[in-house]
Amino acid sequence: MARTRCDRTPAWAQLQAAYQAQGKDLDLRQAFAQDAQRFERFSQQAPLVFADLSKNRIDAATEALLMELARQSGLAEHRDAMFGGEAINNTEQRAVGHVLLRTPKDAKLSNPALAAELAKVHSTLDAMLAYADQVHGDAAITDVVNIGIGGSDLGPQMAVLALDAFAKSGKRLHFVSNVDGHELAAVLQKVHVGSTLFLVASKTFTTIETMTNAHSAKAWFTAQGGTDTARHFAALTTNVAAANAFGITTTFGFWDWVGGRYSLWSAIGLPLAIAIGSQAFREFLAGAHAMDEHFQSAPLEQNLPVRLGLLDVWYRNFHGFTSRSIAPYHSSLRRLAAYLQQLEMESNGKRVDASGEALPFGTSPVLWGESGTNGQHAYFQMLHQGTDVIPMEFVAVKKPRHDMTPHHPLLLANVLAQAQALMVGKSDAGGHKHFPGNRPSTFLLLDDLTPASLGALIALQEHRVFVSGSLWGINSFDQWGVELGKVLAKDIEARLASGDASGLDGSTAGLLARLRA
Ligand code: F6P
Repeated sequence: MARTRCDRTPAWAQLQAAYQAQGKDLDLRQAFAQDAQRFERFSQQAPLVFADLSKNRIDAATEALLMELARQSGLAEHRDAMFGGEAINNTEQRAVGHVLLRTPKDAKLSNPALAAELAKVHSTLDAMLAYADQVHGDAAITDVVNIGIGGSDLGPQMAVLALDAFAKSGKRLHFVSNVDGHELAAVLQKVHVGSTLFLVASKTFTTIETMTNAHSAKAWFTAQGGTDTARHFAALTTNVAAANAFGITTTFGFWDWVGGRYSLWSAIGLPLAIAIGSQAFREFLAGAHAMDEHFQSAPLEQNLPVRLGLLDVWYRNFHGFTSRSIAPYHSSLRRLAAYLQQLEMESNGKRVDASGEALPFGTSPVLWGESGTNGQHAYFQMLHQGTDVIPMEFVAVKKPRHDMTPHHPLLLANVLAQAQALMVGKSDAGGHKHFPGNRPSTFLLLDDLTPASLGALIALQEHRVFVSGSLWGINSFDQWGVELGKVLAKDIEARLASGDASGLDGSTAGLLARLRA
């Protein structure tokens, strides 16, 4: 698989020239005035997601050059290597197989090793979904507590909330991630030993937060007189041996080729499957698979993850924008920004390329956001009139799942108005009342928020992160940057007990002393 870092292609220099010549001064209002077809040209229907990119600072010539950049970088070959099961996670020598988790059982895979993995995926999925339905039907279990962090928490938590309209089991779902004992203590106050199922979700089964919470939950269970661990604890992990050693015999496995932040589609999705049932969980996988097929087969020019990922590169490396904000106008999507933060920033927050060479350009933007309309009354002031340009990504859902008449049109009016205001601005007043406009946004529209459309939306985001990471030449599938803090925390935990401050910097030593005083 030949990959060429984006800055080493001829198209990169052409894009730099295009940015200087017209890109930096592109005015969206003029662009619309000059091209009656702009909306059609820069919008498209992808599986279950409609996207309007027309309010972005891009023109046809720039998009064509970005496509050239993708071709010269070997994006399609890199994508095919991922789908083909090659070990593209080169620093850990692992394949990147989350797409296999949503590949149908009867898919014809030419690679026999991959076909064997697919068979394993489906036997685990069948077992996990049978278990989900069993829990679903078990009236004695009223509460399910997921103990996990990062990818073992954010995905299921986001998706359970997003699909609350589809929750049929009537179980109360709780998520405990933080090592801060207040979180677990608050949940344990609400649940009863005989009616609670604990899911210990950890790819590695070594993460300190999760293991600390799991041990405390088990101690609580025993102290409350609980005995049937097999019924009240299950583990979702690649490390079944460690789960068994912990005392958990009900386990659902997955594999090292599933990255933590890409694991929602694996056994880590069990809380979602319990909440919405096995059939809806299969629809969720099918929606993601539809987006996978689109990413694999649509021509680059009409390939939505490719178009979004290239726009990300254009904004980050040519315009120099350092962040992107996501505003889902749907209260059930209120954890989407947190989920996407890990996806984007843990994947692409890298300062060296895949061969370890320092990069001369910026990579992951800061991703942040809040659901609308809440954000409008908090930080949108800065988006409209601040000194920085922040590309926005709006997500709207056409169909409401309630029938309270004034609300949904009002919500949709607001999301349209915000995107419009950012672009159009207001120049008939000076000073404090002036809105410069020309502020870019992407608009993603779902007909309905369903398991399938959520699956497609998340897969779209995964693949757009793949696209920018691929062009940047980085390994989007490792996360060495989280290791140093883990090691130092162990050291400081011992020092908090002993008081030993030798060799510490002055600030850490000073704070340690205050905490011990
Ligand atoms: O924060 C680092 C990380 O490894 C994430 O990538 C991962 O999602 C999280 O920790 C949890 O890991 P695990 O599922 O192994 O407990």
